[in-house]
Amino acid sequence: MDDFLYRSIGSNIAQAIVEGALKAGDRLPSVRALCRERNLSLATALAAYRWLEMEGHIEARPRSGYFVRARAAPLTPSAPSHRKPQACLIGVTARNMRLFETQRQPGIVPLGIATPAATLFPAEALRRHLNQAALRDPELLTRYPTDARGFPAFKTVLARRLAAAGTAIAPEEIVATAGCAEAINLALRAVTQPGDTVLVEAPTYYGLLQILETHGLKALEIPSDPFTGPSLAAIEAATRRPGQIQAALLVPNFANPTGSLMPETTKAELAALLSARGIVIIEDDVYGDMSHNGERPPLIKRWDTEGQHIACGSFNKSLAPGLRVGWMVAGRYRQKIEGLKFESTNATPPILQAALAAYLDNGGFDRHLSRLREQFRRQTARMAQLVTANFPAGTRLSDPKGGFVLWVELPPEYNTDLLAERALAQGVAIAPGSLFSLDGRFRHCLRLNCGHPVSPAIEAAIETLGQLAR
Ligand SMILES: Cc1ncc(COP(=O)(O)O)c(C=O)c1O
Repeated sequence: MDDFLYRSIGSNIAQAIVEGALKAGDRLPSVRALCRERNLSLATALAAYRWLEMEGHIEARPRSGYFVRARAAPLTPSAPSHRKPQACLIGVTARNMRLFETQRQPGIVPLGIATPAATLFPAEALRRHLNQAALRDPELLTRYPTDARGFPAFKTVLARRLAAAGTAIAPEEIVATAGCAEAINLALRAVTQPGDTVLVEAPTYYGLLQILETHGLKALEIPSDPFTGPSLAAIEAATRRPGQIQAALLVPNFANPTGSLMPETTKAELAALLSARGIVIIEDDVYGDMSHNGERPPLIKRWDTEGQHIACGSFNKSLAPGLRVGWMVAGRYRQKIEGLKFESTNATPPILQAALAAYLDNGGFDRHLSRLREQFRRQTARMAQLVTANFPAGTRLSDPKGGFVLWVELPPEYNTDLLAERALAQGVAIAPGSLFSLDGRFRHCLRLNCGHPVSPAIEAAIETLGQLAR
């Protein structure tokens, strides 16, 4: 199937909807009719309709076909999905970008994307360390960086920190990156080919689905419980046939969107199972430093004796979102990844790594982190109280063990895509549950960013959400 053709057909139909040529409730041609009309394969026509569905333009009605969706209809029931996991092509980028756009609007209450308030970070200390790094070695600014692997002092201090938290890593195993997102991109380029299938948790962070989409990969969603983590039985079943799955892209420490922590026994079992089956775990540890109880959990990488798995992280959530410094422990793919890093961005700016290394090494980061963790714990707990007080009966919440997001599950008849539209009209951004999976199973859920101190505006926003939902 031509991956670009289905999106171009989908966009073409979406345009007809946006321009009013197709109206809410209009029935679209059957899949077979679409194939005939546009000379498409069945797979391409189906993918185009799936894409339109995910973009929120159309809906499938059982045994009736596809219809243009009423965008401002009242909150409607959404059927829970009981589907067996199936690998899916992904079409999420446009929706994700819209979420980012909404949050940029002036005056919006920022409960949508997962970003902490800028005021929570030590701007003055970071500025001082950047100055000092430049004073100590002005050539950090003027010398052409020729080492794609990263700045040695940064890698040494990072390896020491990971070892102290139970994951013994040699500094040479680390590659410095532009954020966790680049690390994941490099890992996927190293271990997959377009068309391959990657396991992800459901729900998972929509940015990971977007990255898979960019690489032409399919996602196979594994149900993940906010309390116990991904279903090992489902992973076992999905990986039984050799060669079907190339990698598992997981967020074991303080997952986004639930904030849950994968139990250590599950991490160990996953490492054993996927190592034995030759499947690479790409572990996203971007929230690993942010436990609410102060304990830094180990990486799955701890149980990796063969260098088969890859861990990725960054300081963008915990220290300096604007520096965009990240890292990866590249395992046996290190050389390949160094080559890919060199070819794409040459190197992560050494001056940024030098400044971070000094801050990490002198105890400043640990002092900042203990304040930040406590702040996130309080903010998340307060947001949970507010949701409990304002949302309809039957609403359930995740119990985040770290990080700063809260997952809210409304009763199944609610539709948070519509709630998000209405909330936005009232100046409140949220992340609707449908972003966190490919098959609509979380359409009654939403994620709240708890990264901002709870102000009267945020309290009022939760009240508004509760009223809109009721
Ligand atoms: C689970 C997860 N992984 C990766 C990222 C991206 O991290 P970075 O900003 O370091 O690229 C995010 C950002 O929200 C995230 O939530």
